[in-house]
Amino acid sequence: MRFTDKSIIVTGAGSGIGRAAALLFASEGGRVVVADKTEGADETAHLITQAGGAAKAIRIDAGLEEDVIRTIALACDSFGGLDVMFANAGISGGMANLFDTDVALITEVLRVNLIGPFLAIKHAAPRIAERGKGAIVLTASVAGIRSGAGSPAYSASKAGVINLAAVSAQQLTGSNVRVNAICPGLTETGMTKPVFDYAREANKMDRVGRLNPLHRGAQPEELAKVALFLASEDASYVNGQAIAVDGGLSSSHPVTRQEYGKTAA
Ligand SMILES: NC(=O)c1ccc[n+]([C@@H]2O[C@H](COP(=O)([O-])OP(=O)(O)OC[C@H]3O[C@@H](n4cnc5c(N)ncnc54)[C@H](O)[C@@H]3O)[C@@H](O)[C@H]2O)c1
Repeated sequence: MRFTDKSIIVTGAGSGIGRAAALLFASEGGRVVVADKTEGADETAHLITQAGGAAKAIRIDAGLEEDVIRTIALACDSFGGLDVMFANAGISGGMANLFDTDVALITEVLRVNLIGPFLAIKHAAPRIAERGKGAIVLTASVAGIRSGAGSPAYSASKAGVINLAAVSAQQLTGSNVRVNAICPGLTETGMTKPVFDYAREANKMDRVGRLNPLHRGAQPEELAKVALFLASEDASYVNGQAIAVDGGLSSSHPVTRQEYGKTAA
């Protein structure tokens, strides 16, 4: 019960990693503002309250400043302040290559994926600092570490999130507010549903995640658990970092690996 009576905001909590995190925060005693642009927010809040937890749903656009301010106000009014902000909402923006990416597309991807976390830090950090200490966790991606896991717009937005975690941690010196990011690899969520659905239908699940040494994709809870660790006092000395949660994908250059237990050809 690492979050007993803590006031917590999770954006993008209507699905996937955000929903898994909201449920886990609540199961550890946290009181959660469940923010999403869809009705998934209400569903997640319902799941929490049904299980005896405390939650408030709010429909927002996480890339709009007034909505971020409204979300933080709801947490402060409902739960007496703010301890944790998990800025997780994001969009893939599709797989358009450099030349098919128009300014409108990259602007929207950056607005949601990068300006959203920026607004979350800007407005949440002062409220968290008022509590004496707390944490902000951002969702970046392996796509932000190097190329190959998303479109140019998506990858650039997530690289920005990784840098934002580092810069913000520095700018919050003396506040006792830590800022870290998780960098998920391929995870089975709403965003990647078509990939997993196709693989199941085509009987090709063994190919999903085959580029990482664990040879599989992740489940949302595996990401959520790392987000909770970073948000908790267990990570009291982890600050300004981007933690890859990708089965080992980003730990190697793209070489042919020798399989465990098999001799080299
Ligand atoms: N699934 C993966 O393989 C993967 C890999 C790397 C990073 N990520 C990142 O993980 C985060 C969570 O995504 P997910 O995989 O759980 O996908 P998901 O689609 O299941 O969940 C994302 C949620 O964010 C919400 N959302 C999108 N734009 C929003 C906005 N402007 N305002 C408020 N809510 C908004 C969606 O409605 C949805 O409920 C995203 O930032 C995504 O980029 C996912």
